[in-house]
Amino acid sequence: MYTKREEKELYDLSKSLLAGKDKRAPKEVAADLRRVITYHEWKYYVQNDPVISDYEYDLLFKQLQELEAEHPKLKTADSPTQRVSSDLSPEFETVRHKVPMLSLDNSYNANDLYKFDEQVRKLTGEKHIIYSVEPKLDGGSIALLYEDDVLVRAATRGNGREGEEMTPNARAMRSIPLRVAFTDKGIQQAEVRGEAVIRKDVFHKLNKQRQEEGLILLANARNSATGGLRTKDPSETAERGIEAYMYQLAFARDKYGKDAIPIFRSHHESMDLIADLGFRIVTKGRKLCKDIEAVIAFCETCEQERDDFPYEIDGMVVKVDSFALQEKCGSTSHHPRWAVAYKFKARQATSKLLNVEYQIGKTGTITPVAKLTPVALAGVTVSSVSLHNEDFITGKDLRIGDQVLVERAGDVIPYIVKSLADLRDGSETPIKFPKKCPSCGTKLIRAEDEAAWRCPNASCEAQVLQRMIFHVSKDAMDIDGFGHKQIIRFYELGWLHSIADIYNLDYDAIAELEGLGEKSAHKLRTSIEKAKQNPISRLLHSLSIHHLGKRASSLIAARVKHVLELKDWTMENLTDIPDIGPVVAKNVLEFFSEPKNIRILERMEGLGVNMHQTKDDKPPQIKHGGPLDGKTILFTGTLSQMTREEAEALAANAGAKNISAVSGNLNILVVGEKAGSKLKKAQGLGTVEILSEEEFLKKVKT
Ligand code: IVH
Repeated sequence: MYTKREEKELYDLSKSLLAGKDKRAPKEVAADLRRVITYHEWKYYVQNDPVISDYEYDLLFKQLQELEAEHPKLKTADSPTQRVSSDLSPEFETVRHKVPMLSLDNSYNANDLYKFDEQVRKLTGEKHIIYSVEPKLDGGSIALLYEDDVLVRAATRGNGREGEEMTPNARAMRSIPLRVAFTDKGIQQAEVRGEAVIRKDVFHKLNKQRQEEGLILLANARNSATGGLRTKDPSETAERGIEAYMYQLAFARDKYGKDAIPIFRSHHESMDLIADLGFRIVTKGRKLCKDIEAVIAFCETCEQERDDFPYEIDGMVVKVDSFALQEKCGSTSHHPRWAVAYKFKARQATSKLLNVEYQIGKTGTITPVAKLTPVALAGVTVSSVSLHNEDFITGKDLRIGDQVLVERAGDVIPYIVKSLADLRDGSETPIKFPKKCPSCGTKLIRAEDEAAWRCPNASCEAQVLQRMIFHVSKDAMDIDGFGHKQIIRFYELGWLHSIADIYNLDYDAIAELEGLGEKSAHKLRTSIEKAKQNPISRLLHSLSIHHLGKRASSLIAARVKHVLELKDWTMENLTDIPDIGPVVAKNVLEFFSEPKNIRILERMEGLGVNMHQTKDDKPPQIKHGGPLDGKTILFTGTLSQMTREEAEALAANAGAKNISAVSGNLNILVVGEKAGSKLKKAQGLGTVEILSEEEFLKKVKT
């Protein structure tokens, strides 16, 4: 359909249209917009391989819509704006919707919403409008028709006028009632519309199961839901766990065929009725707002809480609540004028891979980092993205000069989804992973069971610097006010050669530095003096011994009176500690058999750094017979009513064992605020009891 060259040209043209600095005549711009939109629709719908994000597509579409609205003469019959997008397939029987299923107009910011409100007020002649706001679920839309209380037909949206009949599939979905007491309300025929989605936790479980069965993984919840609606086998719809959340009573007629909607005054009343009648509607993110300011504030809050919704949402839908006012607003052939979608910031964008840099970690791990042309993603400009390791690069066949699709989802750091290989023009070059350390030139090594290449030279300058940065960080010695910038500055001044130098700084010289002064120097001194008294569990962790995490450091700290005792320890001494494996043990032994390291620790002790076990190094004793006897527990996220240590002590006191990772062995996960991947993983396992802080406290107190 398109040659490679044409594809490249259309892609470049899209980017320049998106940049929005076109000075050409509207006619030419509109023609180009039509060309690129048609191309992207083909990539998306036919090839199933989009090269731009949905957000970028929406922007192009909107540009064309606006241009055509400004210059109606530019509208052509074949313009993509003149059709409602379609998912019709010849495999299903087509049915005509009783009332067209329109689309929604989009808005992207507060300004767009103010404009929408202004237009609504103009159309209705009202000063104040009450809006009903609800999440925009990202799935497939369905229309359910009931006659004499029985579900008689279910259809997808299709092209808006006609949809695909999928009644057997709808009947297989437990969230869709087969019989509804509409006639009690005087309604003989009604159509209820909503969105079919797969909840995030269900989707993760589904994919895990598929993985175990060796099946191809489903790409995302949205496509799996729309695909599941249109399968020929209703049991497949049921197995995918698709659920329908209803968002509109599209029409209702009494037994004389008269419109029965006037018995409700508003959208929210009709939704309450729908819920009462046994349909599922959303609860989180549904609100009646007294004006557009309240709408804006609520949309922004929900955008921030986007990841807390149990299903994927890509925005909010703002609807004029009163039915009478909706009628006054009317509709265009594309969308109602009484509603608008507020689209959340894009999570995907395309950008060019300019270069790859190699970062050296504190234990010598080499991490390739892609440098990209800066792109805005969900409100943050992204210009570098980790490529993790060599296998990631080869697995995705990434090349320098490639156009790549970048995604930033929720709390997940940005990552490259794929390269857009179709757009290559031959100038791209392969990424050559280095064989030698970019800092010290030592030959890199890769352990058999590890994905990373490492520089084995512990004296490698880049590693030493990273170890110092880690040493002062919150996770390690927690030296307040000593960030990585400070470390780099002092290192460049030649003041720091090893972590011991951190405890031997010349504060008078620091006070002389630009931007610092007496006060900062004093503050830093206080923090460093305080850190000298840290328990040895922290100190052990701060040494950057490969694989020695916080928990293993605590386990070892609980067994030694003085850190330097570890010089004389054997493999058995270490592996006798439950949960200390041979790999960590070997690394600890290696560290303590290196004279250079011992000299550094001795110097630190001489400078006043504590090397003796203190009571903080003793793990809380598990008390048997308590309410959580024999259970394993893990805390994640920020706790608001107690510190992590207090929570762990309470758990141990109730008989539970604190463990550090989510696995099949975990019984209870207590989630604080901003819980991230651990919560997701636990939900995915389906065997972990998930408790809030309050629920946990209630349990341990019984
Ligand atoms: S109201 C005439 N409410 O978004 C009003 N739509 O881009 C039309 N959608 O096809 C729909 N959540 O499938 C409405 N709470 C919600 C929605 C919602 C998701 C979908 C719907 C529609 C698409 C429009």
